[in-house]
Amino acid sequence: MGRELPNPPESGLINALRFGDDTFRFIEAMQARFDDVAAVPIPGRAPLVVVTNPELVHDALSRPAEFSRVPASGPAALIATQGLVQSEGDLWEQQRGIMGPAFMGPQVRAYANTVGRRVSTLVEEWSTAITEGDSISRNLHGEMTALTVRVASEILLGEDIGRERAEQFHSWMRVAGDEFEFGLDAVTPEWVPTRTDPEFEEAAEGILGLAEELIERRREDLPARDPDADERPKDMLTMLLLAEDDPDVEYPPNQIRDEVATFLIAGHETTALSLTYTQCLLSQHPEIRQRVREEANAVIGDETPSYEHVSELEYTGRVFQEALRLYPAAWAVFRQASADVRLGEYRVPEGAAIIMPQWSIHRDRRYFENPATFDPDRWEDRSPQSVEAYFPFSSGPHACIGRQFSITGARLALAAIVQRFDVDVEDGALDDLRATPTLRPGGGIAATIRPVE
Ligand code: HEM
Repeated sequence: MGRELPNPPESGLINALRFGDDTFRFIEAMQARFDDVAAVPIPGRAPLVVVTNPELVHDALSRPAEFSRVPASGPAALIATQGLVQSEGDLWEQQRGIMGPAFMGPQVRAYANTVGRRVSTLVEEWSTAITEGDSISRNLHGEMTALTVRVASEILLGEDIGRERAEQFHSWMRVAGDEFEFGLDAVTPEWVPTRTDPEFEEAAEGILGLAEELIERRREDLPARDPDADERPKDMLTMLLLAEDDPDVEYPPNQIRDEVATFLIAGHETTALSLTYTQCLLSQHPEIRQRVREEANAVIGDETPSYEHVSELEYTGRVFQEALRLYPAAWAVFRQASADVRLGEYRVPEGAAIIMPQWSIHRDRRYFENPATFDPDRWEDRSPQSVEAYFPFSSGPHACIGRQFSITGARLALAAIVQRFDVDVEDGALDDLRATPTLRPGGGIAATIRPVE
């Protein structure tokens, strides 16, 4: 059944250590040496298969029964083991069916308008703080997390969690990021016990506790709504709670809590990171920032940013798209071979851990001219869907459910901020990035924020 996968000649231990020590460099090296796919033997574990050919990536992602999710284990099992990002098969299908409508049509409009309102408040907060001096310093990633987690809670769960709890959420996510950073743990034999940091246990409890609190409040609120008056909100949590009465729906224990915790994280983290990286790139490319500003002035003027503005913020959209190419917040998609399976002409052994890295495929000169250059205009006559090597939201049945939310919301958030401020970061702001399940900055991203003259 198919050819053996090519292997690097060095010992498995050396490769395992290189992977654990500098994951990005290791993956880039594998891609440069093997082009399409390589299997790295890892002592005491199934091999690690790095797939860097876009056609093979899309093929694997379209076959979830053979290339299945990596089950949550270790610390990951403390948060939301069976939410939509983790579940599979019948449970996943049921859940995606129940929640799908909360991410379409009118909900995209509602999401965009919520971003518009929230970002206007943030702009006002920054302006007020600046009156006491001519600039302020902020952790840009923290500010973007507070913005996006409040939008996510309001639109998905029907309640804004407020600035203070949004900041608390940012510190929980920082602890989780440290816990999940790829390192030697990822390549030590499976029988070596790994320790969970007590600070992470507290963060996980905090996230689950917040999820439970939000569910309780919504449960109390729902019966008061008249089911015939069509005044029931269409948010995701309402959909999940109403489906409890459907005889065809079966929830395992804690399913709603797991979904809410999953969406509190998935609904904001990648968006906050992407907005942060885009603004870092704009700080490094003032001429591009100026074009975004001119577009924002022409399209939004002095109105509150809203869904009506989204389609006209075309250049801003290309800027975001290009930032997702160079700094994809989801830097790789991970799967596991559920049996001996075929991929292209190769045989992939059962249990193999599979990494499909947007990080290096998005920077491959076979698919992108001058790949290291931040050039939003490369997308002027090219739709992202037509480029197989570009998949920031993944593909196949598990592709991102929030893609439309983030694309529309990002245009408004970026345009509104750039219209009013120069957000500047240090030259090396993007040099220390960490491989956790997402691409996270090593420390905070220190930014100086000045009003536009
Ligand atoms: C720039 C922002 C975002 C990026 C780059 C991103 C990226 C991704 C990627 C790559 C996947 C596929 C993971 C896999 O196949 O294993 C994914 C799945 C998912 N995303 Fe996003 N995402 C973003 C925003 C959002 C938002 C705003 C939400 C929710 C409101 C969301 C919710 C989800 C969920 C629930 C899944 C799992 C879908 C499934 O398996 O059915 N994401 N996302």
